[in-house]
Amino acid sequence: MGVESEFKGKSYIVTGAGSGLGRDLALNLCNLGASVYSIGRREEQLRETQNLNENTKKSFNYTVCDIRDYHEVDLYLNGIMENNIIDGLINNAAGNFIARTQDLSINAFKSVIDIVLLGSINVMLNIGKSWIKQGKKGSIVNILTTYADTGSAYVVPSAAAKGGMRAITRSLAVEWGHKGIRVNGVAPGPFKTEGAWNNLMPSEDVETFMAGRNPMGRLGTVKDMVNAILFLLGDNASFINGEIITVDGGEWLEGAGEFNQIRQMGDDIWEMMKTRRKKE
Ligand code: HXC
Repeated sequence: MGVESEFKGKSYIVTGAGSGLGRDLALNLCNLGASVYSIGRREEQLRETQNLNENTKKSFNYTVCDIRDYHEVDLYLNGIMENNIIDGLINNAAGNFIARTQDLSINAFKSVIDIVLLGSINVMLNIGKSWIKQGKKGSIVNILTTYADTGSAYVVPSAAAKGGMRAITRSLAVEWGHKGIRVNGVAPGPFKTEGAWNNLMPSEDVETFMAGRNPMGRLGTVKDMVNAILFLLGDNASFINGEIITVDGGEWLEGAGEFNQIRQMGDDIWEMMKTRRKKE
């Protein structure tokens, strides 16, 4: 099935489409003939997404609300779910920053967990309940991260929240799979968006270091992410459920494999080892 025929005439909810990855997802879906509904905190940014081109002007809809506010989210989504046939949800909205854990207040923890974990639950719960009541099939894609699995120093609130989302992804895939609702996730390594970059990259040196240690020799792009997310969202992935696709160029495996770091070893040492082996 071609990508265009897959999304044309369908409707999706994408949280946080006022910037970064969410904006690109909304743009791509609108360009492929779908309608997009979004929730975000900043009206100006959402309006910018709406004004990106003729397709977004026609098919991108939004409301300003904080994903952490269950009542606001419920009010907006009830209206959408009652008046439209919604085919899928991309749980994209996130909050994160780099900090030493001993420097964090409880409110710092709470602000990230409330956005990433509770905010996503607010949205998923409303949409899932509506789909089940309507007897409607649906597809959910949660944006996770590779450190949802491994954990990571200096982003502990985010690791805790994304780890929770990973568990929810696999749990609901089974519970709601029986209702025709697929739940999958995408786990990016570092990739460049405005929001993530301002909050997560302390300097260009860190960026260069992270690109250098990636097996592919680069950071991820938004296009890399959009491709994987749209694949999982659409009917081409109709038998994929509870799966988390890692989109990191092999970065986390590079860090995990016992001997991976010896790629730094020069040819002279490899030759010396060969010579020694032949002698033995
Ligand atoms: C320590 C910090 C901090 C920092 C905020 N806080 N930034 N503490 N170091 N760098 C503390 C504040 O002091 C405050 O605690 C509490 O956190 C809440 O801060 P506010 O600014 O009042 O919160 P709020 O306006 O709600 O903003 C939430 C936010 C912010 C998460 C802090 O960064 C945000 O809105 N981010 C949205 C965009 C974003 O982060 N996108 C990146 C997603 S990338 P006190 O105690 O002082 O009240 C992502 C990566 C995935 O998720 C993986 C990719 C590899």
